[in-house]
Amino acid sequence: MQIFLDSANLKEIDEALRWGAIDGVTTNPSLVAKEQRDFLPLIQEICRRVNGPISVETISRDAEGMCAEGRAFAAMHPNVVVKCPLTKEGLTATRRLSSEKIRVNVTLCFSATQALLAAKAGATFISPFVGRLDDISQDGMGLIRQIKAIYAHYQFSTQILVASVRHPLHVVEAAMIGADIATMPLSVLEALIKHPLTDIGLDRFLNDWEQLPEAARQWQQKLSRRPTLERMPS
Ligand code: E4P
Repeated sequence: MQIFLDSANLKEIDEALRWGAIDGVTTNPSLVAKEQRDFLPLIQEICRRVNGPISVETISRDAEGMCAEGRAFAAMHPNVVVKCPLTKEGLTATRRLSSEKIRVNVTLCFSATQALLAAKAGATFISPFVGRLDDISQDGMGLIRQIKAIYAHYQFSTQILVASVRHPLHVVEAAMIGADIATMPLSVLEALIKHPLTDIGLDRFLNDWEQLPEAARQWQQKLSRRPTLERMPS
């Protein structure tokens, strides 16, 4: 399963890239607004950094406007994916942009019927929002299972991009269902890595290491004098 960072913040993107943990980025108007920066230069900065799909969302309500925005976004960089909302206008724009070979991520998906229509319109990605469904006591991951079954049944190539991910269990379930991608904020990505037993174990190993006599611990200095370690006889 691929992992995308759900952020328009360059520091967060740099940090996630440094961990080697992300395959792409998703943005939306709320995330962009948080940055209080010029929109297009910000997207260009993200494109300079990320070697993978970068979702950029249209803000028009009509298909004409979405298509015009989508064409402009797609012309910025080959990695840009145009995000259109799951409305009648959004589906019209998805069909049109997809026929022009522009990749579309259909966003704000909350039902299996919506996901079916997005796939039929030629969406490259469908973004079901699991956290927002859980927020209203509906089963977010249940929707992912439904979409997975429907897409498999008809061999749609639309990729399932699990969005509105709130905690690591969403990621585990998405991976167990076989979703193609999960996009998440940096806090959730960090929570995927951290485990208290890892921290306790590392502290114990390094404390034990300190029990070695200092001379026996100086392998790095020895290495700097003799840049390759001697190979053991096989
Ligand atoms: C991703 O594409 C979505 O815009 C995002 O995951 C929404 O997450 P939220 O429900 O936490 O705002």
